Amino acid sequence: MAATGSEKQGANDVQSYYVSTPIYYVNDAPHLGHAYTTVAGDVLTRWHRQRGEKVWYLTGTDEHGQKIMRTAEANGVSPQEWCDKLVEEAWRPLWEHLNIANDDFIRTTEKRHTDRVQEFVQDLYDKGEIYKGGYEGPYCVGCEEYKLPGELLDGEGEYAGQKLCPIHKKPVELLSEENYFFKLSEYTERLLAHYEANPGFIQPESARNEVVNFVKQGLQDLSISRSTFDWGVPVPWDPKHVIYVWVDALLNYATAVGYNENPAKFDGTFPANVHLVGKDILRFHAVIWPAMLMAQGLPLPGKVAANGWLMVGGEKMSKSNLTGIKPQDLTSHFGVDAYRWYFLRAIAFGQDGSFSWEDFTARYTSELANDYGNLASRVAAMVGKYFGGALPADEAPGAAEQAVRDGLAEAVAEADRKVGDDLDFQGGILAVFDFVKQVNGYITEQEPWKVAKDDSPEGRARLASILYTAAESLRAVAVLLNPVMPETSQQLWDSLGAEAPLGALADQRVQDAGTWGQLPAGATVTKGAVLFPRLEEPKKDA
Ligand code: MSP
Repeated sequence: MAATGSEKQGANDVQSYYVSTPIYYVNDAPHLGHAYTTVAGDVLTRWHRQRGEKVWYLTGTDEHGQKIMRTAEANGVSPQEWCDKLVEEAWRPLWEHLNIANDDFIRTTEKRHTDRVQEFVQDLYDKGEIYKGGYEGPYCVGCEEYKLPGELLDGEGEYAGQKLCPIHKKPVELLSEENYFFKLSEYTERLLAHYEANPGFIQPESARNEVVNFVKQGLQDLSISRSTFDWGVPVPWDPKHVIYVWVDALLNYATAVGYNENPAKFDGTFPANVHLVGKDILRFHAVIWPAMLMAQGLPLPGKVAANGWLMVGGEKMSKSNLTGIKPQDLTSHFGVDAYRWYFLRAIAFGQDGSFSWEDFTARYTSELANDYGNLASRVAAMVGKYFGGALPADEAPGAAEQAVRDGLAEAVAEADRKVGDDLDFQGGILAVFDFVKQVNGYITEQEPWKVAKDDSPEGRARLASILYTAAESLRAVAVLLNPVMPETSQQLWDSLGAEAPLGALADQRVQDAGTWGQLPAGATVTKGAVLFPRLEEPKKDA
């Protein structure tokens, strides 16, 4: 009997908090849209690591199917050569560049995957879940999916008279095949019962409603094999067929964590707590995948979270309508940390959003450089100037200092709930930046540069308290922003001299970040490099 999603709510000593990204098609290099999902997953897993949980973060590549096969053919190489080249030259290097801390990277052409896929499908066949049948229908190679006639668009211009895929806006192909079917239709009621019993299974609400309405119409059985091409995992009992690329791909979430191979690892990791997916592939994850698991008696994931699309000119950003801007073009201008921060900060997770240089530049300048970066350098400079770089003790805290402490406690609770539980990255980041604003306001009001002119013991004590409060606030900000911006957070941690007394930044618990007084008096504060330097003029052709 499949466990319900709520049975795997969180990590503990034995169970990992397991997050996945989609495995990406390697028909081309990664673009901003792919990086968006992967960065979100990275922030989520780093957050949970800093809650002290065991975490497993998986990403990888989807290498079978007609789409990849045709791309390789068009480039005059074998599909495997094509995939190897793209994975090594484009995909892995980008994730490294963006500081993605994934624990594994699965490729669907690896033996550890293909063997287990065959076993899984053979098992379903032996259980009577798969039968042979025929199917004819419109197929979109871009989606690698049969479409329903009703969802197709009428072509215009060069495509006049043809039917188009609603996502790719390209003509569909009429496929007629004898192949194997999974009895998906038999899972309609069980899926609906699962959605009902687990309201958080699909996020956001709009995505959940869409799936529920779709399933309520009744499900058709799913064609799970192809016989017109051979770039895939052979069907074990009938190797003229290859397994449908989506069935092959979805199984990565099980094969990568030891399905049928390493029971201890599998039981300690599977199922995923969160599958992050773009909304275009929600149905595969929220309908087909759970039905496959139910058929095997395996537990279902805790949550399928759909992110919106990064848009270009009103369309989903994709290979065919790219802006010409690669992730590396943005990181070389704004830096990796600002890049990781920007998309999560600017777009509510789950909603569509657009990117513009103007918006990125404006937010970088006002929020990162002015609000946050300046605060960090001013505080370090004043501790240097007035106390020789040794953090003074909090000698005379009053109501203004208490207000900062209270503000921090609220920010920590809010950020932890929003990022860690709700996947509301924008809300969590805003909670931290509102606190940064509060600390800026506090310094403006307290005017430490004026208090510094008062040499009396009372004056020195006041100044000490103001600067302690500001530095201790920054200590907490570094902890909270570390999952989002690990490089600059480390710079700040170093500048506060926090490592010697408190240990490594990544070991600091986010939920304890509001516990006041962690940075000890005497910590060595230095004015390091500017966290967010002034931006150069963007290149003219950008
Ligand atoms: N290979 C399948 C997924 C199999 S998962 C078992 C696939 N790959 S994909 O490369 O086409 O895209 C996968 C994901 O990339 C999307 O679902 C989404 O998470 C991300 N994005 C691709 N383009 C995007 C945008 N324009 N905007 C936001 N995310 C985008 O589908």
